Order: sequence, then structure tokens, then C-alpha cells
Amino acid sequence: MEETPNPVSGATPERATIFAVANQKGGVGKTTTAVNLAACVAEAGYATLLVDIDPQANATVGLGLTKQEDPNVYDVLSGDVEIKAAIKASAIPNLSVLPSTPELAGANVELPRVAGSETILHDALEPLRDEYRFIIFDCPPSLGPLTVNAMVAADRVIVPVQTEYFALEGLADLLDTVGLIQRELNPRLSIAGLVLTMHDGRTRLAEDVEAEVRKHFPGLIFDAVIPRNVRVAEAPSFGVPVIHHDPHCAGSGAYFELAKEVALRG
Ligand SMILES: Nc1ncnc2c1ncn2[C@@H]1O[C@H](COP(=O)(O)OP(=O)(O)O)[C@@H](O)[C@H]1O
Ligand SMILES: [Mg+2]
Repeated sequence: MEETPNPVSGATPERATIFAVANQKGGVGKTTTAVNLAACVAEAGYATLLVDIDPQANATVGLGLTKQEDPNVYDVLSGDVEIKAAIKASAIPNLSVLPSTPELAGANVELPRVAGSETILHDALEPLRDEYRFIIFDCPPSLGPLTVNAMVAADRVIVPVQTEYFALEGLADLLDTVGLIQRELNPRLSIAGLVLTMHDGRTRLAEDVEAEVRKHFPGLIFDAVIPRNVRVAEAPSFGVPVIHHDPHCAGSGAYFELAKEVALRG
């Protein structure tokens, strides 16, 4: 794809598209992808909201907030506060955060007890579609009630896939869940794409895994491949996305490329 000054120039000004970054495997790059994708589209000038729906609250902390923000996404799910009251500005222009907290783990038990709870975040976010262009969920490493809530609210699912042995494991279950939610609860939902993460181009294994994933899911893999890059890994300890930590490193370039594709694919 040719270079353009605006990293996501393909985006058109309209209502928000809601993305869920999901994979029930832990450590595959969900949080890193959600934070950096959000930062890239915000950098391009689009009003962006990152919704942290993982009790680990890593995205919240990675954007410079704490795990004790009050109110937070748990209060919204509990019906205790209006969503707007829980949204915080980040240090990055155009990027707001609906923060998480470890207490959110309780929702895994509480949500299933409440009839219709699957649509709480969908209902809360609908009125915000006119205020943001991109709303991005960082999902927890499970296909439980929190991920379901995100997928019911979302239009598109982005699936980070770590290029390692067993990369394909669990993807069938994930796609089944997306299909089920699409049939039962959210007909708009579709897969935006799979993004290969932590790719080590020097290893034969990474190349083999990439080839296998592309063969299994033709047309569904983003061209942008996120390299394994120490600047990406250390950025969260500074509470900033990698494009602010080191805008010129390979990881930043890859996330800008991904943001362009995401914006173009819609
Ligand atoms: N491209 C990358 N290069 C190096 N380290 C990475 C990269 N992407 C993620 N990591 C690191 O790998 C770990 C898992 O990533 P994370 O995004 O937290 O995964 P998940 O949210 O799926 O559990 C984190 O320590 C993160 O900093
Ligand atoms: Mg995570």
C-alpha cells in the first residue's frame, strides 16, 4: 500500500464503527493492538474511544490511567452510572477511555443472572456513535459474558493471532462464537480480519505459521504484520502507546499500516 501523509486517510467522516479486539487466548497481543490501533486513529484526528472490558485493566494502565478509576466500566455494566460519567480523557488528543478495574471480574458471575444483560454495552454505546468515529474494545482472554457484551455492541471483530506454534488453536471456537452472536444477538457483526502479531521474521517457524494462517483464512488476514519489537513491549510501562514512545520503530510503522487497513476496510 502506498504511503500517504494521513495514516488513515481512507476513513470517511460518519458515525462510529465499533471494533472488538478479541481472542480467548491470553498473551496474543489483544491489548497491545487495541491500544495502538486506538492511538493511531486518534493521531489521524478521529474522535476515538477505547473501552477496556478486561478485568486485568492493562489497556487502561497502558494509556496512563490507573486500575482504580471511579467510576469505570464495571459501574456502567452494573447500571450504577451513565456511560458518559465514566469516560475519561487520556493524555492523547482525540483519545478517550472507558477504564476497567479488577473488580470487573465480578461481572462474569453477575451478568448471566440478569436477563438481557448481553445488550448493556450495546445500549449504552448507541447514543455515543455520533460522538466518536472509532470505538475499540479490548476484550478479556475468554469467550465469557464480557466478550459477549463487547461482540453484541460491536460491528467488527479484529482477531490478533500470535505467529507461534498452536496459532490456529481456538480460532474455530472464536469464529463459532462470532457466528452464534451474529445469528442470535447482533446481525451486524462480522470479522474485520486477523492480524498477525509478535512476528519474528528471522524464524522459520513464524514464516510457516504465517503461511498456514493465510492458507486457512484467505482474504481475512491483514497485510500489516506486527513484528516482535522491544519498543512495543516497553511502551506500556511508560503509560503510552508505542507511537508516542518511539514513533519511528518498526512496531509503530506496523500499527500505522494496520490502522490504515482497518479504516479502509471499515
Ligand atoms: N509486537 C510485540 N513485540 C513485543 N512484545 C509484544 C508485542 N505485542 C505484545 N507484546 C507483549 O506481549 C505481552 C502480551 O501482549 P498483550 O497485548 O498484553 O496480549 P493480550 O492482551 O492478548 O493478553 C505483553 O507483555 C506485551 O507487551
Ligand atoms: Mg490483554
